[in-house]
Amino acid sequence: MKTGIPPLIIGNWKMNPQSTSLASKLGVELKKKVGGIKGVDIVIAPPAVYLDTLSRARGSRPLFMLGAQNVHHEKLGAYTGEVSLPMLMNLGVTHIILGHSERRRDGETDEMVQKKLGAAVKAGAIGVVCVGESERDSGGHYLSLVESQIRRALAGLSKAKLGQVVIAYEPVWAIGKTASEAATPRDVGEMMLYVKKVLAPLGAEKAVVLYGGSVEGANAKALMKEGGVGGFLVGHASADAKQFAALVTAVS
Ligand code: PGA
Repeated sequence: MKTGIPPLIIGNWKMNPQSTSLASKLGVELKKKVGGIKGVDIVIAPPAVYLDTLSRARGSRPLFMLGAQNVHHEKLGAYTGEVSLPMLMNLGVTHIILGHSERRRDGETDEMVQKKLGAAVKAGAIGVVCVGESERDSGGHYLSLVESQIRRALAGLSKAKLGQVVIAYEPVWAIGKTASEAATPRDVGEMMLYVKKVLAPLGAEKAVVLYGGSVEGANAKALMKEGGVGGFLVGHASADAKQFAALVTAVS
């Protein structure tokens, strides 16, 4: 990597697996299979109810970091069903995924992402802001959408906190498919340049920019090399230890 920062690979388990014992088993397998791989920073973001289980499964010398898939911007109070930053950080969470398209689809707005990001960085966590278009149009409107998602999320953030921001470009049309249907390294490379151009005037040109959307062992290397990404946000391939290990090995 040009920056000398190791690639960051975040596994987003989404709403999987079905039980604590399966989460624990997957955690132990991941520790065995990817824990020893050097030159990569790994974060696993399970459903919040499995954070404690995963924290135990990864052991006392943690070989991967813990992430959360969402957070509420308030610390405490009457917010039924929500989980706060102190609660997550108390369990060892360092990275918070924000504005994932599956949450935006269910009503999460740019304003909510902005509030959550502000709260996350204030608490000392890394905010992983997901952006991306649902479809590409020939007029390039998808570029303005990505730009506006980034600008709105980062609005009001002090320069000192920008180092705690990671951007994950995840085109919605490429999520949950197979490697052959992911965005091409060329598509991704162009978008990486565009995102950097948007970030520069905000003072965030050094922010790590990830790609997500059907990243698997088969396409990870090409996306990394030709796409110029700082790492990946991985969905389905992170909920299978063997697949995830193949992907991490390809990147390392
Ligand atoms: P996918 O999911 O790797 O299964 O496409 C990526 C994501 O939604 O973060």
